[in-house]
Amino acid sequence: MAKIKTVYVCSNCGNKVAKWVGQCSACGEWNTFEEEIEQKVKNSSYTPARKFISKPKLIKDITYEKEQRIDTLNNEFNRVLGGGLVRGSIVLIGGEPGIGKSTLALQIAARLQKYKTLYISGEESLQQIKLRAERISEEYNNCFILCETQMENILRHSEELDPDIIVIDSIQTVHTERSDSSPGSISQIRECTTEIMKYAKENGKPVLLIGHINKEGNLAGPKVLEHIVDTVLQFEGDRNHIYRILRASKNRFGSTNEIGIFEMQSIGLREVTNPSELLLSQNEEAISGVTVSATIEGARPFLIEIQALVSTAAYGNPQRSSTGFDIRRLNMLLAVLEKRAGFRLAQKDVFLNVAGGIKIDDPAGDLAVICSVLSSDIDIALPKDTCFAGEVGLSGEIRPVTRIEQRISEAEKLGFKRIFISRYNTKSIDIAKFKIKIIGAGKVEEVFRNLLKK
Ligand code: TYD
Ligand code: MG
Repeated sequence: MAKIKTVYVCSNCGNKVAKWVGQCSACGEWNTFEEEIEQKVKNSSYTPARKFISKPKLIKDITYEKEQRIDTLNNEFNRVLGGGLVRGSIVLIGGEPGIGKSTLALQIAARLQKYKTLYISGEESLQQIKLRAERISEEYNNCFILCETQMENILRHSEELDPDIIVIDSIQTVHTERSDSSPGSISQIRECTTEIMKYAKENGKPVLLIGHINKEGNLAGPKVLEHIVDTVLQFEGDRNHIYRILRASKNRFGSTNEIGIFEMQSIGLREVTNPSELLLSQNEEAISGVTVSATIEGARPFLIEIQALVSTAAYGNPQRSSTGFDIRRLNMLLAVLEKRAGFRLAQKDVFLNVAGGIKIDDPAGDLAVICSVLSSDIDIALPKDTCFAGEVGLSGEIRPVTRIEQRISEAEKLGFKRIFISRYNTKSIDIAKFKIKIIGAGKVEEVFRNLLKK
């Protein structure tokens, strides 16, 4: 019997070494080596019918069809993709178990009645998929299901059925004859994705791949996977919250700033087209520590509630904790409050929470965060009809933010009466155009004074 030879493969860059080492000499990452059985790439029993052999072409001679994108009939999904599924592209959807990846993919496949779709599952049985399909209650006139994990069979079936769109759930469960490693190993994932890519590009078919993520929250498998595919989408959100956010971390055909918001209901995922109304709480009376920030994610403005709780530290070291907002930025804002506004927060616990399990990266959230900490600290509720949009600098100055008019219009639309923004932002806009009261401020102290005056 031939001796089994093992190698160690870096899960980040695919570098192979004979002995385990802590750091990869190729990419510099630590603890990324995984053991694999080495074997030569074998010939597979399946050879795709090559449609054409490509030749070099002059750029000016290259033509493309106008209608390249497939409208997925799901506005949020279209938005994240940059306007629909591009033919021949591979979209990878990653996310934690149970977040709703299979539900999203099945829903999209089902809704596209105009197109023949093939949903391939390596994780669930036909009956399980049927049960899910019944919950989602779309009409399924043109959606085929295949339970298969072998790459060669998948490609054979795809060629035979000739679907317009293919979904593979998940890339970690499929395996190819070309490699002896177990499904989910680095070489299997690499081989399978390459095969799928060849198929997609040659036939001009879009493929949705579902991927697992590892415990650090990255897509499981080599980074190579992310390089091969055209679009990488992350499906995030707290499993205990009903909101799910789809975010593009790579997109060859669109922007990566866009997000799609969904709500998990008992009948599948619902698109949330007007996030502000959901992200603002329906509390009748004003509560201390709660403010509203006029933020922008991608091209879409929305208003979101920020809550702070400041209390005396019970045990020695005060705690700072934050959900949905960068903790280092929170610490910086607390230092600004201490230094510039004379708040004594060193002995206080500070907890910050952004509503709905949403994460905000927009610097315009600073002013609302600072005001909610202030409001909780002095235990005075701020008026409910007030919102904020401004970045706070180290000296307590309020800096202008982008697309201020869009934020103001959104606040006005939702019935807010006052918005605090940077004084520098007020110069560039026509205040008379808006009915909402726009207050420009230069420093955080000015905002506090204005908020607390009777
Ligand atoms: P699923 O799509 O299986 O997640 P993933 O493929 O990412 O692992 O979603 C599973 C969760 O979603 C499960 O906890 C049940 C819930 N769910 C609903 O709440 N409503 C529904 O209509 C469906 C189909 C699932
Ligand atoms: Mg699944």
